[in-house]
Amino acid sequence: MPLALIVHAGAWNIPDNEVDAHLAGCRNALAAGWRVLTDGGSALDAAQAAVVVLEDDPALDAGVGSVLTADGTVELDAGLMRGADLKFGAVATVRRIRNPIVLARHVLESEHVFLTGDGAERFAHEHGIAFIDPKELIVEREARNYERWKRGALNLAGAGDYASDTVGAVAMDAQGRIVAATSTGGTPFKPIGRVGDVPLIGCGYYADDLLGGASTTGHGEAIARVVLAKTAVDFLQEGATAQEAAQMAVTVLAKRVNGVGGLIMLDAEGRVGFAFNTPRMAYGYITEEMGERVF
Ligand code: GLY
Repeated sequence: MPLALIVHAGAWNIPDNEVDAHLAGCRNALAAGWRVLTDGGSALDAAQAAVVVLEDDPALDAGVGSVLTADGTVELDAGLMRGADLKFGAVATVRRIRNPIVLARHVLESEHVFLTGDGAERFAHEHGIAFIDPKELIVEREARNYERWKRGALNLAGAGDYASDTVGAVAMDAQGRIVAATSTGGTPFKPIGRVGDVPLIGCGYYADDLLGGASTTGHGEAIARVVLAKTAVDFLQEGATAQEAAQMAVTVLAKRVNGVGGLIMLDAEGRVGFAFNTPRMAYGYITEEMGERVF
């Protein structure tokens, strides 16, 4: 099978002065994931490697650089799915983990599918994942935004106006195995304990080697209602191309629940699809047939 990797760094009204950083994030993530694939690695390792780079990127709302909760803290969600056996792993509302996608991977490889909060962190400790000081996840930009929001000086006029950035990747390896992975700090100033689409199977991510895989971004409550990633993959089953399926799924998001967001996807042949109804989405892909493009 031809190798393929597609990544995103969020769909929202990305300000002009943040576009370059978002595109650089996509390029770096593609480089990391592509290295894994071309070295003969698995789609699971490639998708994880790409998302770790995006989580570590302080420009993006996942891992370091995440938006803050209403309490001024960071709570992280992540999930990933392996299309070969339909196994998935997810974590939600973790605070002391730098790379929640790595923790979600451990969950996928365990007998569980979804762990939250303190229990997820205990599981992390048991699996040798080091805790960080939660303050390490907070960057100056988000601390400033939080202070402005507390003062009532930050106007979040539209659902797509401010980052519910989220990052994600869909990879296909030489064996035709597909993995979709997604990670986020969630929506700005969310209440403690709020969980959106990202760690929910079928909503933030979905993969089935027989059909394809998808990773979503945008307003999580709306995305969850239309089970956006699974909806997109279902369109593949009905005969749509990856690009048609992505566009049709975003149309469902807009028409059925007035939602804003986007998604990236691969079909079972490694062909790419992407669509969004926000002003911008940062994304990029590398395939053996199409080379590298970043938007
Ligand atoms: N899509 C990210 C979130 O709503 O949490």
